[in-house]
Amino acid sequence: MSAAPEPIAVIGTGYVGLVTAAGFAELGSDVWCVDIDAEKVALLRAGEVPIYEPGLSELLAAHRERLRFSTELGPALEHARLLFVAVGTPATYSGDADLSAVHAVVDSMPDSGGHALVMKSTVPCGTGAAISRALVARGRGALAYVSCPEFLKEGSALEDFRHPDRVVVGDEGTWAGDAVAELYAPLGAPLVRTDIASAEMVKLASNAFLATKISFINEIANVCEETGADVEEVARGMGLDERIGTSFLRPGIGFGGSCFPKDVSALKQLAGNTGYHFQLLGAVIEVNELQKRRVVGKLQKHLGELVGKTVTLLGLAFKPNTDDMREASSLVLAARLQAEGAHVRAYDPVAEDEARERMTGVEFADSALDALAGADAAVLVTEWPEFTEIEWSAAAGVMAGTLVVDGRNALDRDAVRGAGLIYEGVGRA
Ligand SMILES: NC(=O)c1ccc[n+]([C@@H]2O[C@H](COP(=O)([O-])OP(=O)(O)OC[C@H]3O[C@@H](n4cnc5c(N)ncnc54)[C@H](O)[C@@H]3O)[C@@H](O)[C@H]2O)c1
Repeated sequence: MSAAPEPIAVIGTGYVGLVTAAGFAELGSDVWCVDIDAEKVALLRAGEVPIYEPGLSELLAAHRERLRFSTELGPALEHARLLFVAVGTPATYSGDADLSAVHAVVDSMPDSGGHALVMKSTVPCGTGAAISRALVARGRGALAYVSCPEFLKEGSALEDFRHPDRVVVGDEGTWAGDAVAELYAPLGAPLVRTDIASAEMVKLASNAFLATKISFINEIANVCEETGADVEEVARGMGLDERIGTSFLRPGIGFGGSCFPKDVSALKQLAGNTGYHFQLLGAVIEVNELQKRRVVGKLQKHLGELVGKTVTLLGLAFKPNTDDMREASSLVLAARLQAEGAHVRAYDPVAEDEARERMTGVEFADSALDALAGADAAVLVTEWPEFTEIEWSAAAGVMAGTLVVDGRNALDRDAVRGAGLIYEGVGRA
């Protein structure tokens, strides 16, 4: 029988940290989880999971005996030599990545030749080198450093852990790179062994490219609206070209979430800081911001002034199957509608608590039909499956108006129209 995989520590128990912890526990490792948020740690110790990610609470429960949660780093250092860092790296006001949480972790490290920091957090290219320099300067150069960027998608994060398209391990040829590669080996994924800077850039470039694809198809959609073409047909025709591919060719009301907006901006800033003007990414960001606002124009086209009109947002999370509201398009849309004088009503199957913390003046409903009652217009913001199953004849019976704006091209256009409602999609004249 082969030996159990080695124990690990995970520092930061958010979306990435918890999925990493649960995934490696499933593969047989003992996992020592550390977070500075005492409330979160108390919940996790009590068997509760503070975030919504399909299958995560079940997997954590199934491997409870291998998982420990603490606010203290000490026990983790005692039992594990690989310290996976999964703390947040949000954007600063300038668009650069805020690395304060990463630095707080680095500062808490002992001088130990037996440990390695394994960076899962998304950090600008050059961060690993800067951290290694700082460690040497502080006499802690014995601590090894590995860049192992994370590519999971919220909503399918566990599947992404189990079946990654690739595992990227960037290191300087120390023992730690081999140890990380060995941990991931049972997953059988293609392994990219490279240097630290290149591993960091793989992550930023991947997200920037996907965001570029989205902004590109959104611009095609906007031109389709002027020219009579149907962007869904166009995307299908383009996507069958294997050089292009179908994924991330879905037009909509812009990308959001905790990664794309900040990572695109961080890469643009990173380039700028070196004196290079990354023009393409400037456009990707601008197109995305305008895309969120185009919905307002569509509502005005049919309703005229929005003062006093009730607009229902179906879905608030930045995408289905998550409660994550970070940079969700719904935030910009709700604020714009309120600025135009509209009353905003909303329903989301899981993100209401998160949404309440970030939105003011929005009326929350308990179901899609409740949210639609008396509405002058509905906007599909997040394509949760339950919205694609709405009985539009029932919806038409309770709405005051007749307009449905499908911000994700996810609804059955014929069913909406068949109920006597007006359908407005994205890029579908
Ligand atoms: N969420 C995603 O879909 C995703 C995907 C790939 C990569 N990433 C990257 O992974 C990183 C983490 O993202 P997330 O969404 O999991 O963040 P998150 O905000 O959900 O979780 C971060 C956690 O780190 C904890 N933390 C902060 N400072 C700490 C410290 N000094 N010591 C211990 N814990 C600390 C916080 O309390 C929080 O629980 C980010 O860099 C992000 O860009 C995220």
